[in-house]
Amino acid sequence: MSSLKAEFVVSSGKPDTFPSDQLPEIAFLGRSNVGKSSLINALLGLKGVGRKGLAFTSSTPGRTQSINFYRIAERLAGYAGSFYFVDLPGYGYARVPLERLREWKQLIETYLSSRETLRLCLMVLDARRGWMDPDRELRQWLEHQGRPYLVIVTKTDKLKNQSEQQRGLAAIRQETAEPLLFSAFTGRGVREIWQAISTTIHPR
Ligand code: GTP
Ligand code: MG
Repeated sequence: MSSLKAEFVVSSGKPDTFPSDQLPEIAFLGRSNVGKSSLINALLGLKGVGRKGLAFTSSTPGRTQSINFYRIAERLAGYAGSFYFVDLPGYGYARVPLERLREWKQLIETYLSSRETLRLCLMVLDARRGWMDPDRELRQWLEHQGRPYLVIVTKTDKLKNQSEQQRGLAAIRQETAEPLLFSAFTGRGVREIWQAISTTIHPR
């Protein structure tokens, strides 16, 4: 049996307030309103959609403006360890003033380029929209920085029928070999995503 304990640690707008305890980190990246915070809640077995989870979710885009760190303590048979889930503010929200956009870019780039404890980035895409230019730009940037990432396709519950599923996912697969399919509504994909996270945190 395993158990998880999760707690909010800090909401940080500057590198000098990032946690300093050197625990490994898994970062969640994606466009504003794509469902990053809902994904975090679903992985923690908390209410996936709505406000009851640990990570604050909202139907108003651009809600998460700073970097939120959640410490997860894990207990498996014979093993206990901790790591962070890092909820990054979403990008690509048009109604953000230019000055805020610059601050945002600087904050994210500082985190992604210099954070030594960052182990894996989870890039979250909307199943109905697929890859959009800001996502491609970020992916290119991650590759350039040599940051390992996985692609998660969320809101798959919104693809109504089979042909919509096939069309949407085929377009995404043209640019991604193995995306993980997820829904915060149905819980689809939670196990596979945890498997990927565990492999990263406890390499054999
Ligand atoms: P920012 O913090 O603003 O960047 O947004 P976010 O990426 O954290 O998105 P959030 O998790 O707050 O979710 C945005 C909206 O999408 C909310 O209204 C959620 O209820 C909804 N949502 C998230 N995941 C899913 C999903 O899998 N299925 C459906 N149908 N809705 C979802
Ligand atoms: Mg959020």
